[in-house]
Amino acid sequence: MESGPLSLRDHEQNRLDQLGLPIWRRLLRYVRPYWGFVALAMAITLAASAADYFRAYLLMPLFDEVILPAGKTAASTQLDGWIDQLPIPFDLGVSQPADAESQPADAEGQPADAEGKPTAEAPLLSEEAVAEQIRTRFVEIVIAAGIVLLLLPLIYFVRDYSSAYALGRIHVDMKRDVCAKLLALPLRFHQESRRGDVYARAVNDVGTAHRALDLLFGDLIQSSLRIFVGVAFLVYLSWQLSMMALVVGPLIILVITSFGRRIRASARKRQQQYGEVTQRLMEILTGIKVIKAFRAEAAEDAAYRRETRKLFKRNMKVTKNRLLARHSVDLMNHSLTYTAILIGIMVMGWLEISMGELAAFFVISNQTYRPVKKLAKAWVQIADASAGADRLFEVLDKPVDIHDAPDAVEIGRVRRNIRARGLSFSYGDEPVLENVDFEVNAGEMVAIIGRTGAGKTTLIDLLMRFYDPTAGCIEIDGHDLRQITRDSLLGQIAVVTQEPFLFDGTIWENLRYGKPDASREKILKAARAAHVDEFVDEMPDGYDTEVGATGVRLSGGQRQRITIARAILKDPSILILDEATSSLDSKSERFVQQAIDTLLGGERTVFVIAHRLSTIRQADRIFVIEDGTITQRGTHTELLSQDGLYRELLELQNTAT
Ligand SMILES: Nc1ncnc2c1ncn2[C@@H]1O[C@H](COP(=O)(O)OP(=O)(O)O)[C@@H](O)[C@H]1O
Ligand SMILES: [Mg+2]
Repeated sequence: MESGPLSLRDHEQNRLDQLGLPIWRRLLRYVRPYWGFVALAMAITLAASAADYFRAYLLMPLFDEVILPAGKTAASTQLDGWIDQLPIPFDLGVSQPADAESQPADAEGQPADAEGKPTAEAPLLSEEAVAEQIRTRFVEIVIAAGIVLLLLPLIYFVRDYSSAYALGRIHVDMKRDVCAKLLALPLRFHQESRRGDVYARAVNDVGTAHRALDLLFGDLIQSSLRIFVGVAFLVYLSWQLSMMALVVGPLIILVITSFGRRIRASARKRQQQYGEVTQRLMEILTGIKVIKAFRAEAAEDAAYRRETRKLFKRNMKVTKNRLLARHSVDLMNHSLTYTAILIGIMVMGWLEISMGELAAFFVISNQTYRPVKKLAKAWVQIADASAGADRLFEVLDKPVDIHDAPDAVEIGRVRRNIRARGLSFSYGDEPVLENVDFEVNAGEMVAIIGRTGAGKTTLIDLLMRFYDPTAGCIEIDGHDLRQITRDSLLGQIAVVTQEPFLFDGTIWENLRYGKPDASREKILKAARAAHVDEFVDEMPDGYDTEVGATGVRLSGGQRQRITIARAILKDPSILILDEATSSLDSKSERFVQQAIDTLLGGERTVFVIAHRLSTIRQADRIFVIEDGTITQRGTHTELLSQDGLYRELLELQNTAT
């Protein structure tokens, strides 16, 4: 499972042990077009967290300038008695001198403090005046807190909206890139890779890669900013107490990075298993007929269950590490807060901290703990999600090995000939074709004969440039295929194969696929020529009949006639028939043959791979492929008079029918 075309190479495996920085560089490239939105979100986070902490910070003047002084004048009924109900935990004589000396350079605090100071020491002002002052200060604090309170949801909305916008666009870009890549990748890639795995990468891994970015901007960076602002407030309130908090910082970092590394490795295995499960499901869906025919439901069910259970196990491993990381960080944080409170209270007098400062310090440190927790969580989740990014970039990095040459030419209809010279090809080590030479004139019809597996389809695939030859070349009108643009090459070719392929859609849509800009009349004409109208007219929905996934609701012959109509519509100058009728029963074969005859009527160069004598006889020349090369060539009568595979195959057919 870990091997296969998409598996990790060794040096990539090593990358797992690091933190995957190259991946991040790649991921951030997706962010570049939307920097503005991201920067806005970041700036807002900075402002919003400052405002948020400021709200907690207001506790300091609330205690020092309202609650505590009010406690002293509580006897006065000027305060309507409300202050008596306030829960003031300590009766702090200490706070009085501390209060006066450690005045923070708070702009708002200044005027009240200047007047507040004498109140504490000398009763110069009347009790009413003091109460009045306290009340004014209280109102100021309430208003400041209120403004922050009202403003915060609004700016958070702007922040969340702009980051969601940027991330949404990035998700679209990623999906588009993967799809474009899958379309561009050579046929060889698709034949060699498991469809479920590719599908899982295109859907699931894109999702997790995107989530990694979401976490980076949503939680990681925003939390870091919040922590930064929070720590600034804390240091400002009391650097001595802040030092204690900083001790634990490196410890937390150590824990989450080590867990992060483990999570990344196990998440990668889980994503792989996800591909495995998807693959199973796809096999069930595409092979459902076979499964039912062989009564293999129970076996498939068991196999699927086995794979999903494995997925579950791998997922639990990731979860276990994630939870361990989270709760270790929790533990460290809680014990830190606990000791800090204890120590803070014990050394309050020594540090000359006022009650209000201490209160603000603990509330702010508590608030700062939240982003720390989020950060730790985001870090481990990112380790998890970047495994998806890993797999995504593996697909995106696959080379597209068949490009148009920069000096590629456009070809029109074939005028002179199609030529193969010294053509050799192999899929792996075993050569399939070796040193094949031929020359086919424009307008000629050539039949290619040979045993199953001789390389007939391979020859055709080379002609369509699905693969490039390992040696030699094919030329059309003197141009090497590698010097012809793919668009113009495939524009000249139509293929009808043994396995007609239809898309899930209506008959009409499938016909139009051959030439999307064709007029309605032209499409109908082609449909008539391919005898498609004969069965379509009997269908209640006519051309709007849904063919079902891959055309399952039509018979083989009907499907074949649709693909022939498609080919007629395209009016190609090169026509390829690869065992077009070999999987049909004799009745539908007759219909399809009529359609093919129409198709053959145009001015085309035709390659026909066939087993029917009547088709072969129509050909101007016959090539017999054997042992990877053309061993016999000539007309039917010529070849029939020779000893060789041709006569052998024909005799075989005669005895069979
Ligand atoms: N995509 C592929 N990957 C590897 N081997 C292949 C592939 N397609 C065909 N082959 C092998 O190449 C040989 C020729 O196959 P093919 O051209 O399909 O034969 P034919 O069409 O004459 O029956 C066979 O041995 C087959 O197993
Ligand atoms: Mg074949």
